[in-house]
Amino acid sequence: MPGDKSISHRAALIAALSSETSEISNFSTARDCASTVACLRQLGIYVEDTGEKLIVTGNQKLITPQEPLDCGNSGSTLRILTGVLAGHDLSAMLIGDESLSSRPMKRIIEPLELMGAQIEATDGKAPLKVRGSGKLNPITYKLPVASAQVKSAILFAGLKAKGRTTVIETTQSRDHTERLFNGFGVPVTTNADLSVTIDGPARFTGGAITIPGDVSSAAYFVAAAMLLPESELSIECVGLNPTRAAFLSVLSSWGADITTTDVQTDRNEPYGTINVRGGIAKPANEAERTLSRSMIPSLIDELPLLAVVGSQVSGGIRIQDAGELRHKESDRLAATALNLRAMGAEVEEFEDGLQVFGPAKLRGARIDSHGDHRIAMAFSVAALIADGETEIDGSECVAISFPEFFELLHSVAAT
Ligand code: S3P
Repeated sequence: MPGDKSISHRAALIAALSSETSEISNFSTARDCASTVACLRQLGIYVEDTGEKLIVTGNQKLITPQEPLDCGNSGSTLRILTGVLAGHDLSAMLIGDESLSSRPMKRIIEPLELMGAQIEATDGKAPLKVRGSGKLNPITYKLPVASAQVKSAILFAGLKAKGRTTVIETTQSRDHTERLFNGFGVPVTTNADLSVTIDGPARFTGGAITIPGDVSSAAYFVAAAMLLPESELSIECVGLNPTRAAFLSVLSSWGADITTTDVQTDRNEPYGTINVRGGIAKPANEAERTLSRSMIPSLIDELPLLAVVGSQVSGGIRIQDAGELRHKESDRLAATALNLRAMGAEVEEFEDGLQVFGPAKLRGARIDSHGDHRIAMAFSVAALIADGETEIDGSECVAISFPEFFELLHSVAAT
């Protein structure tokens, strides 16, 4: 698997802000991560791409960019980079594509303004005009939504605040920022009450890191192997951070035969081999078939795929408390419901979730990806088990996270 997208964004930002030169191997091939690197270059960071690794020359002083910083489709770039810029004495404009420009940004504007940055937006959305400050105030901030991007924006800003910055989560979201800050010499403490603290000002040590394979990209292959009887698939060196890999336990509880082996860690991030054998071995009970509350953040990017798999589970599945899915690259609840119905499944859509009835016999159909990479990939898996041909409109959007997706799928699918 190409390198993890979330970890790659953070590794590039950390390397850029460190006191030394860093080497990042297996950096994500996602277009989103290329957006982060392009923005860093505009901010005066020297990044060399050798083809095998990125060599980043750290620099504490970012420069005011000549042109707007184009974050493309990437929410992580826009939100986390704004947190970085908040602590630098410069002005910058951050822009994004149509999808990114329609996503909510008040969630980062409010805490970063409390810390002393000035951020102008239009109706709480990008473009954002950021006026950073070399002197930020530390804050204690309770996140109104479970969001690793918002938590990370505040922690990156906290590097430049004098004193203790605390972010309080109500539900644990992915913790790559915390793990990598600790791995690169900036202590971050996670407490039992889900508060995360950082003492500023603080500075990273640079160094080498190999990014683990992207578990969210692996998910499509794991699901395909599970749904196609007699499959056998092993995927090596995949990230297994529990705040990301929860879909593996969900699929196991739905009867999948999945094991993980060879587990190791690099810079506090666990990775290993995922082994899957095809088939659904046991029926799941109603509790196992309900995804809700604190489970949601660690499954957030896999929910459209889990809805597809759920259509094959006896008794179906229910997703609730997942209203955040309406604010992703597309409205993923609506897009998932629409496309599952087009393939013949029965789906009930409600404000914060879906009821997917199963098992359903899927038929090939015309799928609307809504330009959303995770919808295109989830429905490619559905296409493998459907009768007849499926055509996915806008399928090139998979490059946002996984340019190699179709080639790799083709290489492992028997015809
Ligand atoms: C991400 C966090 C999640 C996730 C996104 C990547 C990250 O978004 O959906 O794909 O890298 O921090 P939220 O933090 O908005 O939930």
